[in-house]
Formats: sequence, structure tokens, C-alpha cells
Amino acid sequence: MAGRAKVTLPQLQAMKERGEKIAMVTAYDYSAALLADRAGMDMILVGDSLGMVVLGYSSTVPVTMEEMIHHTKAVMRANPAALVVADLPFLSYQTGIKDAVYNAGRLVKEGGADAVKLEGGRAMAPVVRAIVDAGIPVMGHLGLTPQSAVQLGGYRVQGREQEAADRIAADAEALAEAGVFSLVLECVPVELARRITAALKVPTIGIGAGPHCDGQVLVFHDLLGLFDRFRPKFVKCYVNLSEIIVNALASYREEVRQGRFPDEGHSFQ
Ligand code: KIV
Repeated sequence: MAGRAKVTLPQLQAMKERGEKIAMVTAYDYSAALLADRAGMDMILVGDSLGMVVLGYSSTVPVTMEEMIHHTKAVMRANPAALVVADLPFLSYQTGIKDAVYNAGRLVKEGGADAVKLEGGRAMAPVVRAIVDAGIPVMGHLGLTPQSAVQLGGYRVQGREQEAADRIAADAEALAEAGVFSLVLECVPVELARRITAALKVPTIGIGAGPHCDGQVLVFHDLLGLFDRFRPKFVKCYVNLSEIIVNALASYREEVRQGRFPDEGHSFQ
């Protein structure tokens, strides 16, 4: 995939119109971004999930703007062809439109991100509109929104009841109206994701939302088996890298202890 041209917003829109699925994965550093881009991802998300899988927090809530900018910069140094979206962390946009535009601007200006993502429904529509008006593309995020997981009753499927489903569908319309270029649907029933995907002109990206979204996103560490503190049902683990890495590290440790490494082939004469 070397030498790929940069993925653009009109291309993502055209993919939806052609029924071509969009592939997105999170990445939080330079090496992971290089690998994701080499694999041909359409979009990379510098998600605030980095708080849990990289920084060891118990939720995404403690993640700061400085941490998001630090990791976004590392990803952008890989110069990915994939469109890079960076998450606005908790309290960087809920405190008012001015804060939201300023912090979205920091992710783009200091971090180098191509676009930003924020969580929330129609209450966030004015915030989305203001960021878009400032020239920054915004991705929405509905369903299970981890920054407000406590209020939602925990990390559980959202929109199972008709009323809740209708509310999420109306939120999706409001965000689209406000100008999001795409919308993440997390942990919602298959039928609700199908309904929203059919209703919106912009692409939906599912995570735990079934097969009918216009694209899918997974957390890098989940799909590669690098994080096993908990594994939601929707995660498909394509390889168990934890096991491979622990075995490799144990082999290294054993060889060092036995004096078998470094050998002649790894030494200078
Ligand atoms: O932070 C993140 O990784 C996300 C995805 C779960 C969509 O927001």
C-alpha cells in the first residue's frame, strides 16, 4: 500500500454511495499508524480508548487534551494516507462552544489530525456546527458513548427499546443536519444501525452495531489480542499477539540467562 494517495472526505462519501465498506482502526503511536496504513485502512482513529489500552486508566474519562495531542502527533509522524480522526476527550467540548472549537482546533493545529470526533446527540448539534464552521471536519458518536457510560448504566447495548431507538435515530438526524461527515454507532442493535444507515446521507461506522453500517471500526489492541482485561462480544480477535509476545519475551529471557544471547551473529568483532 506504499505511495497511496491521502483518503479524502468525498472519497468516503462516494464509498457509501457505491456500497463499498469503509475500514477503520484505532492507532495511538507511530509504529501502529505505519502498520495500519500499510494494511490499507481508510481511516485511523486516535481514540480516547488510548486511556484504557495504553495509559491504564479504568475508563476514557481521565484522558486529557495534552495526552490526545501527544498521541495524535505520534500517529501523524507516520504520514498516513488514511484519514486520521482524533477524539475530543471528556470535558474538552461539553463546557461550551468556544472551548469545543478551541480544543478541536488544537487537535488539528498541534496534533495534525485531519478531523475530530465527539460523543453525544442533538444537544451537541450546535457544538458540531460551530466546529464545522471553523473548517474542521467532525465525526459523531452515538449509542454507547464511553465518556458517559455511568449515566448510560454501564458498558451495555443502547437503543433496545423502541423509545430509546427512536431517540438515537433522531440524534443521528440532528448530527447529520449539523454537518458531521460520518457517524460512529457503538453497541446498538443490528436493526437500529440498519435504520440509521439507510436514513443518513453520510457514512455510519459501526462497532458492535452489526453488519449493515457503511464501515467498521475496532480498537487496535482488541483485534490483535493485545488487551485482555475485558473483551466485549463484538470484538473479533484476528490474532493472539499477547501470547506470541509473552512467548518471545520468555525465549529472550531464557537465552540471556543461559548465556546463549548475544551470540557471534549478534556481536561485533
Ligand atoms: O476511543 C475509541 O476507540 C472509540 C471507538 C470505540 C469508536 O471511540
